[in-house]
Amino acid sequence: MNPRLFTFVGGTTGPWAVEKMEAVVGDPLPAAKRLNIVEGAVIDRAAETVWMLRGVTSNERYATRAEKNLMAAKQVALGRPTATRAALIPIRKSAKWWAMTQDERRAVFEDTSRHVQTGLKYLPAVARRLHHCRDLGEAEPFDFLTLFDYAPADAAAFDDLVAALRVTAEWSFVEREVDIRLVRDGG
Ligand code: HEM
Repeated sequence: MNPRLFTFVGGTTGPWAVEKMEAVVGDPLPAAKRLNIVEGAVIDRAAETVWMLRGVTSNERYATRAEKNLMAAKQVALGRPTATRAALIPIRKSAKWWAMTQDERRAVFEDTSRHVQTGLKYLPAVARRLHHCRDLGEAEPFDFLTLFDYAPADAAAFDDLVAALRVTAEWSFVEREVDIRLVRDGG
């Protein structure tokens, strides 16, 4: 098993109830009632599965040593007992983004858009894990699966964070984004 691979299964089973699914830009995903987050691959697709998205965690591309240290000092892992709210936000960026060089992308990501500086303000209330899809194959519908969890009391702050990111220059390269909000009710 690849320990960096995660499969997100939308359907009728799993500990997370889907509270809301919104296509922020681009095509929506079909409605699912529940989400299961599986470590590794899912070989047999159950009949009630509505969609399956896969991504791998990876090394960082853009964060500097200083930014990494600042995040390491504040960040917490997903899965705190108090973090009963979550957001799965699959994102696809445009061909124009991918045509840029690493230094050009970094300039948009942080020098112009302040992605890390903005995000840092929300740690440790929000825990995060970034999954990459782009190198898994040509047919992957998204480039990234971003996953966050937080306590109900921090839900409004999380809304502020996504709103702040969505008006940045970085987001002008986002051509598909689906915002899926989740509640862990154990069901
Ligand atoms: C909770 C606060 C957040 C922090 C501290 C944070 C931090 C970061 C960092 C450091 C990276 C770059 C990793 C690398 O160097 O490769 C990154 C990438 C990314 N983040 Fe965030 N982030 C936060 C919130 C968000 C939110 C709310 C979203 C979505 C709405 C988001 C979407 C993304 C995406 C799509 C990437 C990949 C960008 C790319 O490689 O082109 N982040 N984030």
